[in-house]
Amino acid sequence: MLVLGIECTCDDAGCAIVRDGCEILSNVVSSQVDLHKMYGGVIPELACRRHVDTLLLVIEEALRIAEVSFSDIDLIAVAQGPGLIGALFIGLAVAKALSVAYQIPFIGVNHIEAHFYAAYMSSKTTSFPALGVVLSGGHTSLFLIKELGFYEKIGETVDDAIGEAFDKVAKMLNLPYPGGPEIEKLALLGNKKRFSFKGGRIKNKNFDFSFSGLKTAVLYQIAREKQMAEDHILSLETKRDIAASFQESALTYTVNKVIQAAHTYQVTTILLGGGVTHNRRLRELFTLTDATLDYRWPGEGLSLDNGAMIAGLAYHKYQFQKKGDSLNLEPSLHASL
Ligand code: KG4
Ligand code: ZN
Repeated sequence: MLVLGIECTCDDAGCAIVRDGCEILSNVVSSQVDLHKMYGGVIPELACRRHVDTLLLVIEEALRIAEVSFSDIDLIAVAQGPGLIGALFIGLAVAKALSVAYQIPFIGVNHIEAHFYAAYMSSKTTSFPALGVVLSGGHTSLFLIKELGFYEKIGETVDDAIGEAFDKVAKMLNLPYPGGPEIEKLALLGNKKRFSFKGGRIKNKNFDFSFSGLKTAVLYQIAREKQMAEDHILSLETKRDIAASFQESALTYTVNKVIQAAHTYQVTTILLGGGVTHNRRLRELFTLTDATLDYRWPGEGLSLDNGAMIAGLAYHKYQFQKKGDSLNLEPSLHASL
């Protein structure tokens, strides 16, 4: 079964052609980083205007690379949400229009579920139950995966998402957007022990996350360091040490929670997804903290937002419901699965 998957939930427009849930024939992503960089974050109105200009071109390119046409496609899938409302509307409108024009069933899938499905489709031999972990710019969520399609949410962030915290700290250090990769680069040469920043504690809710306290601690430290500097400008060394110390505390806090959840729920397989899984120190810390667990990472091109994870997941959803969704399907802003 050939599925065309559309991802248009934030600032990237993606389209992929995937056979039977895992064989990726093409996976095209048009990034908007150039557009939003000068503002230090995503401007929703600009993102939507760019999607209107590029989404159809991205779809054409995905078909061209896969060497297929609409007559070969069995299902059109789209990320229904959560995401930016305007972007979701554009993705859904395009998917529905193509479905009507070419008489192909259409289906909406959850963006968060698709992120941990990305790790599943990359490894194939996953056994359930497993833990699903999404660490992205918009979400930090933990799910117990009983089997594909059956989930129990066991934790989420109560304020900023982990990627958002990376982006905000990067902005405080005058680094370009998106900040995650910039912090990681800067941290490589920094002293992670120089500052002690602490991840937030959540009363009674073991597996929820909080990053806003950590972010504020960094903000105050930057102000103190600037005050102490003769020219009131951060030295490169201090910037590096702040990046390294922040990264280490954000990641250690996250890794410990995830591993604790795996032990509590007695699962050994962990599917991880979302842009922050690009971070090498994150991967290293997981293995250093508990090498007995089986970590499954998204393959090449599957960490950040992409159409392949949407097409792959839609294949299973379609097998399960045995029909497409109604054309009345609306964007969904909720992460619930
Ligand atoms: O999954 P994604 O494309 O978007 C959402 O669905 O939100 O993730 C983007 C996020 C951004 O916040 C970006 O800074 C972060 O992933 N990110 C990283 C790294 N690469 C991307 N964070 C930390 N380290 C990285 N190497
Ligand atoms: Zn995403």
